[in-house]
Amino acid sequence: MSQHIETVSVALGDRAYDILIGPDLLSQAGALIGGILARPKTFIVTDENVGAQHLAGLEATLQARGIATTSHTVPAGETSKSFAGLESLTAAMLDARLERRDMVIALGGGVVGDLTGFAASILRRGMDFIQIPTTLLAQVDSSVGGKTGINTPQGKNLIGAFHQPRLVLADTSVLDTLPRRELLAGYAEVVKYGLLGDADFFDWLQANGQALLDGDQDLRIKAVATSCRAKAGIVAQDERESGVRALLNLGHTFGHALEAETGFSDRLLHGEGVAIGMVMAFDLSARMGLCGDNATAAIKRHFRTVGLPASLDDIEGPGLDPERLLAHMAQDKKVKDGRITFVLARGIGDAFLTDDVDLNLVRDVLTPS
Ligand code: GLY
Repeated sequence: MSQHIETVSVALGDRAYDILIGPDLLSQAGALIGGILARPKTFIVTDENVGAQHLAGLEATLQARGIATTSHTVPAGETSKSFAGLESLTAAMLDARLERRDMVIALGGGVVGDLTGFAASILRRGMDFIQIPTTLLAQVDSSVGGKTGINTPQGKNLIGAFHQPRLVLADTSVLDTLPRRELLAGYAEVVKYGLLGDADFFDWLQANGQALLDGDQDLRIKAVATSCRAKAGIVAQDERESGVRALLNLGHTFGHALEAETGFSDRLLHGEGVAIGMVMAFDLSARMGLCGDNATAAIKRHFRTVGLPASLDDIEGPGLDPERLLAHMAQDKKVKDGRITFVLARGIGDAFLTDDVDLNLVRDVLTPS
């Protein structure tokens, strides 16, 4: 199979943009970005790890097209997604004398994308930016759809803005150097698109997931493109999450509680929490008689086959208290009028939203068997 660039369009009127997916896009960035610049001046934001691998290459391809570059490197990790990180980034942007028509580029994973997008949304009352996501998680989720923001002591992503990028370049070759555990955590979000709205895609992942995780580029391109197409379709219907966009939170309310209770640490990565959370959402759906046990079993089996955690027993360390998990869920930012909104399913590929859930059943799901 020949490797080509897939284009997924996000249909948002005058804020519409393309997501380009394919191998070696970073080395072609000068040509791919050049056409949408109002002025040949860019400001690249990256982190220490990604910058060491990819910044020089990106600068070279831009400069070869006569595009000026300035860069700012933040420490790797969530702590950069803070008011302090925002302050030093915006100071660097102003020191670089960025004008409103210049282009900001986020080169990195979710932290860099969220921080840079938010800085772009407020600098000079709003600048254009481009996402070049370098993790699978960022390619299939955080770089698409315009959610940007930072964390505060009160919680994650509570300060932010919807600010759509002008272009997303998802270079599938950069995934080759991603640690296996991070690749897997991103893969959980790929599976999410099958589970929430596309049973055929879940079947395809059951057949091809292992090979794409092992490095098959064509399969990776197809998986990223299918995920981005699913997300683009939902974002185009509901950009600001007043309805259907919340389906993208499948597994996240449970997963967020697991992450919070494990201290947002290496004990459980976000995607790993989402994987267990999705199994829990299907388990709850089965306990409510909405779908059969076989769906939960199939999802669990697939996660275990590829090496993702699928239940509470898969989290290393001391057991987690169901009441404390429930308390975290009740504080989730998706709570409306004191009721937790759940994404449940009538079967694989058929998710829906409800707040009509018996919390005793949720307790049962959160209690190890
Ligand atoms: N990550 C969920 C969303 O973008 O809506």
